[in-house]
Amino acid sequence: MGRGYDGFMVVRADTKLDARALRADFPILAQEINGKPLAYLDSAVTAQKPRQMLEAMAQFYETSYANVHRGVYALAERATEGFEGAREKVARFVNAPSSREVIFTRNATEALNLVAYAWGLTNLRPGDLVVVSELEHHSNFVPWQYIAKRTGAGFRMIPLTEGGELDLETLDGFAAEGEIKVVATNLVSNALGTINPVERLSAWAHDQGAIMVVDAAQGAPHRAIDVQALGCDFLAFSAHKMCGPSGVGALWGRRGLLEQMEPFNLGGHMIKKVQFEETTWGELPHKFEAGTSPIAEAVGFGAAVDYLNAIGLDAIEQHEHELLSHALERLGEVPGILLYGPPADRRAGIVSFNMDGVHPHDVAQVLDWEGVAIRAGHHCCQPLMQRLGVAATNRASFYLYTVPEEIDRLAEGLHRVRKVFG
Ligand SMILES: Cc1ncc(COP(=O)(O)O)c(C=O)c1O
Repeated sequence: MGRGYDGFMVVRADTKLDARALRADFPILAQEINGKPLAYLDSAVTAQKPRQMLEAMAQFYETSYANVHRGVYALAERATEGFEGAREKVARFVNAPSSREVIFTRNATEALNLVAYAWGLTNLRPGDLVVVSELEHHSNFVPWQYIAKRTGAGFRMIPLTEGGELDLETLDGFAAEGEIKVVATNLVSNALGTINPVERLSAWAHDQGAIMVVDAAQGAPHRAIDVQALGCDFLAFSAHKMCGPSGVGALWGRRGLLEQMEPFNLGGHMIKKVQFEETTWGELPHKFEAGTSPIAEAVGFGAAVDYLNAIGLDAIEQHEHELLSHALERLGEVPGILLYGPPADRRAGIVSFNMDGVHPHDVAQVLDWEGVAIRAGHHCCQPLMQRLGVAATNRASFYLYTVPEEIDRLAEGLHRVRKVFG
């Protein structure tokens, strides 16, 4: 296996997954909705859960549950081993040099807020610039906009090309406007599926003396990630989008930066010594994990990582790529469909579209009658919607358990929408 551009693994043709067989692992997919088999095409918002992950959590609760890093009794040690074992798995999943650099958070949003507050408040000042992109989810946009305002730093957006990709020609213009201190972009756009050139952006950010913050909420579930190859400084992701439970996510950060940073949340567990006069902070990762952690959720996160690794991230990427090509073809046949985003070879398994003259919510409603679940809305990407000149889009998104027949049902449902609305 070689490395592709942006540190992604090159997909091997001999690794195929059997989505039909894998569906047996997902009890929720076996049901009917509105009298039709459920076609769940909203995995970008959250992924469904395999039995193996659910059982790992149940077993942990039934046999090994206690608080972690607190008790000296055997059960507490077992719980701590389960929790720290999960951290090791998550660290290996993104090829982190050390598991101490992996902080468990509530989700990707909290991980990005952690960096914005704990790094940004101390290091940004007037004359500095924070550069995000027009393609950001609000989670990697609003915290930076807010911290820039609080510190007096400037806030800029890398614009999009007509094709829905970052316009890198604009980068050097920012350098003339101030001292660039932060570049923050996603690896994969949740709204358009665009795969962003993070390796290149990291190199550019470092040339400017800036840190590179990567929102991998949509990248981590779908393709192999190597933080060392990406060259970034921070990377955030959520377990619930990668077959894990809700309530837990992770931030990977470079040790040197994490060590210099002030804590984000304060309280129990994150301290070294507390006295009336002063409190000192614990070692990594504890400094950033105040209070009781999402313990069983972290164990579920580790089990989800095991599940994805057993299938193979390259096989998942290949499968989604085939689904995407199929979807672009089938949706292209529906009269009045406007498709957004780059060509199939530069995007993940996400299709955003609108139907001429029909509100996205109406489209999603008619599809729901057919048992087809897709998202309609701004996808927490209002700056992008503004750029596209729409209030909302429809979005279908795929995962390892999606089969082509579900995409065919989406296309047939859209033909029906066309008939209903004329
Ligand atoms: C690209 C991207 N970033 C960040 C997030 C936020 O993830 P969470 O809600 O799990 O914090 C999402 C969720 O949709 C996303 O798609």
